[in-house]
Amino acid sequence: MSKIYDDIYKESINNPEKFWAEAATKVHWYHQWDKVLDVVDGHYRWFVGGCMNTCYNTLDLHVDNGRGDQTALIYDSPVTDTKKQYTYRELRDRVAKTAGMLVNKGVVKGDRVVIYMPMIPEAAIAMLACARIGAIHSVVFGGFAAHELATRIEDAKPKVIMSASCGIEISKVIHYKPLLDEAIKRSSHKPTTCFVWQRPQERANMLPWRDVDWEVEEARTDPVDCVPVDAIDPLYILYTSGTTGKPKGVIRSNGGHSVAMKWSMDNIYDAKPGDVFWAASDVGWVVGHSYIVYAPLMNGCATVIYEGKPVRTPNPGAFWRVCEEYGVNQLFSAPTAFRAIRKEDPEGKFLKKYDLSKLKTVFMAGERCDTATYEWTKKVTGKEVIDHWWQTETGWAIAANPMGLDPMEVKPGSPSKAMPGFNLQALDADGKQCKPGKLGNLVLKLPLPPSCLMGIWDDDKRYKSSYLKFYDGYYLTGDSGYIDKDGYVWVMGRMDGVINVAGHRLSTGEMEEIVAKHPDVAECAVIGVDDALKGESPMGFVVLKEGIERDDQSIVEAVVQLVREEIGAVASFRIATVVNRLPKTRSGKILRGTMRDIADGKEWNMPSTIEDQTVLPEITKAINALGYPKTKTKES
Ligand code: COA
Ligand code: AMP
Repeated sequence: MSKIYDDIYKESINNPEKFWAEAATKVHWYHQWDKVLDVVDGHYRWFVGGCMNTCYNTLDLHVDNGRGDQTALIYDSPVTDTKKQYTYRELRDRVAKTAGMLVNKGVVKGDRVVIYMPMIPEAAIAMLACARIGAIHSVVFGGFAAHELATRIEDAKPKVIMSASCGIEISKVIHYKPLLDEAIKRSSHKPTTCFVWQRPQERANMLPWRDVDWEVEEARTDPVDCVPVDAIDPLYILYTSGTTGKPKGVIRSNGGHSVAMKWSMDNIYDAKPGDVFWAASDVGWVVGHSYIVYAPLMNGCATVIYEGKPVRTPNPGAFWRVCEEYGVNQLFSAPTAFRAIRKEDPEGKFLKKYDLSKLKTVFMAGERCDTATYEWTKKVTGKEVIDHWWQTETGWAIAANPMGLDPMEVKPGSPSKAMPGFNLQALDADGKQCKPGKLGNLVLKLPLPPSCLMGIWDDDKRYKSSYLKFYDGYYLTGDSGYIDKDGYVWVMGRMDGVINVAGHRLSTGEMEEIVAKHPDVAECAVIGVDDALKGESPMGFVVLKEGIERDDQSIVEAVVQLVREEIGAVASFRIATVVNRLPKTRSGKILRGTMRDIADGKEWNMPSTIEDQTVLPEITKAINALGYPKTKTKES
């Protein structure tokens, strides 16, 4: 029993306002809040009346406090053979000029700016520049194709877009600018300006009436200062996948976010000012927002922007090389990255070439951390390996092992216990609390702690219908799982159509909508199946319209290509098959769960509600023909 954790957790649940007001003293405020927590129509607002600036807290504060010459950002790009470092002062100066560029184009507090960038320092600079002037950024993952970008432009209605000429995927050049042009063409909303960072690997064609060369413009722009914003003003919108094809724009506020970021750096990650903190993720995901950009800088750490992969850039020693070269103290990535390394270097031979003495802890999140990956990482690194569970909506860990507060015994496969402010419970279908060890819906009793979503951009109905309508007074995480007798949570998987492919959150519902656009397709189903490397991968089932004469293989190839074009290669939609019928209940619901059990080689029973018992044997045959179930699962 860990008494420190227990006392702090209880205090945070019983007296949240006192708890978070104390935590908030670690943040710089121009003006203190009037009310710690306010509730208006299901929306929770932390630090109402407080006035601050997130960019000030990440950069200027450190310069003002004498950390100006300390390294703030390390850029390491094996794919372009580039290394560069910025001190806090240098980063502040670039951010202040970039913010000036936005101001000169008429961007003011509350305006949206879409950021579509590869993993280069300018991605973080763009985000911080928006925060500096109170503009709301919306970063779109660089691996998304034009359709995804267009959906987000349409919804967020940005005044300005910040992008780059290209990205590099190992040795492949990703042509960002044509994707950006196509997305703007598809969207009815048009930005007035696009700042484009021209990379030496590819120069983009510019539209003189809209596109501006970022580097040239920055050089001739005067810096601007931080604009005080309200704690409850949005800092960013980050779109994430849900059940339907339309992504949800999660809104995060300035004040609560800063408070939670600071608390988590001290207490979960045990990161000290001056430490080198490396979240090997992408700025397009919430992990990148919180732990590449905001939290490490807020905490006076150096953060690493790594433009590479765990393997093939150039070998499975890539992570360990970066750890040695910069003296990384905390490494954070998704289990899939370690599975990729393990696959290519099972004995850890590459790792042995590097000095990891500075590395204290390896943190994992983004998907369930299987015990095999946990054990292997712990064995080869000799470090603590800490799984933690969170989501775009929360912005930081719902459950973790608080290394800076009260490290607890690790139970492999569990992300440990609920963090302060997260009143985590497992409820059954009737809303009753499940007994310890019994599977239920993982929910959070309201209020949620600081940094959790303020709502869904421009869609309040969806905020309520997606999260609040299921159980009165609770937020539905969308994950199922259980809490054991010791209070450890075990996250077992999503209850909706969301899947995690290589740590990327994707919607099978969206894939189905895209596949259904093919003119020969009558109906379809996409499910997530176990994947030894990526955790999960999508598998599609297609029913053709009557009288289609085209061969099945060409239709499968066409729908695979369609998903790649619309969502992007990152969807990893490669496996699909044509079937005569889909298994359905008598009320017409597709039995996706049973199909998944068959593909994963789990035991399954013929559902009593099935419309036609002859369909599932047909589906089993089709799944077998695709080579599923695989004998090797990700646990092996
Ligand atoms: N821009 C453009 N394309 C991208 C991209 C990006 N930012 N990220 C991925 N892609 C492309 C890849 O090039 C690949 O294209 P291909 O089908 O033409 O080969 C496709 O999307 C699938 O990529 P991915 O799922 O990443 O598979 P991979 O085989 O290239 O790499 C891993 C596998 C495990 C090495 C890789 O997924 C990885 O490093 N994951 C780390 C997880 C992570 O950062 N998660 C974020 C949340 S913490
Ligand atoms: P995202 O919003 O992209 O961060 O994805 C959030 C989802 O990823 C969660 O709802 C979970 O389904 C899954 N997830 C994240 N971290 C973990 C973890 N440590 N264990 C199990 N699932 C996780």
